[in-house]
Amino acid sequence: MAQGNRPEPAASAAGPSSAPERAAGALLVERITHQDVPAVCALYKKVLDAEASGLPTPIAKSWQPTPLEFTSWMEGVTYFAARRDGRVVGVVGCETVDGSAHLVRLAVDPEARRQGVATALLQTTLDWARRASLPAVWADVLDRFRPAAALFRHAGFSEVGLLHKRCFHEDVRFFERVL
Ligand SMILES: CC(C)(COP(=O)(O)OP(=O)(O)OC[C@H]1O[C@@H](n2cnc3c(N)ncnc32)[C@H](O)[C@@H]1OP(=O)(O)O)[C@@H](O)C(=O)NCCC(=O)NCCS
Repeated sequence: MAQGNRPEPAASAAGPSSAPERAAGALLVERITHQDVPAVCALYKKVLDAEASGLPTPIAKSWQPTPLEFTSWMEGVTYFAARRDGRVVGVVGCETVDGSAHLVRLAVDPEARRQGVATALLQTTLDWARRASLPAVWADVLDRFRPAAALFRHAGFSEVGLLHKRCFHEDVRFFERVL
């Protein structure tokens, strides 16, 4: 995997962004810092606990990084967190692979779903890719994660294929959005 240019940090408020509404619990998406690592790892653990049933062990493990492991991932990947009232409710990573943007480990707190959190995170990744002049954004999603496929379609990504048994015997769907 090649890793290239990294755009500047970004912050964006999703939805209504006037100060009073933000104070009342609007969503803020911004690049994570090392201080966020424990909260991000706790979020992944919570998401895994909700989704883990029947997941192959290597995949389950990869969704449960220790703070030290996650810190090492931050070397090659730009992570954004969505916060509401200061609490991390969603995370996504972006990396540059062969000159395009690859999204990794998108996850939203089960208690914060269907509220546009992932949509706001995806919007931030598209902005990130545009600022880096990357021509496309793509993601690979386990076929069993049906809500994720619905999300990518909803966000204007095209489904471009399915590889059988691609990841520890799990089928994987690919989505792209050309910018
Ligand atoms: C997939 C996931 C990230 C979606 O997060 P979310 O914040 O709930 O998504 P949003 O609220 O932004 O949803 C936007 C749209 O996507 C679609 N969508 C999202 N979740 C869906 C679901 N469970 N069923 C059907 N459609 C869904 C809908 O069109 C939705 O719009 P609507 O709520 O107005 O109908 C979340 O369910 C999750 O963390 N899943 C487990 C981890 C995972 O699958 N990660 C992706 C693998 S890389």
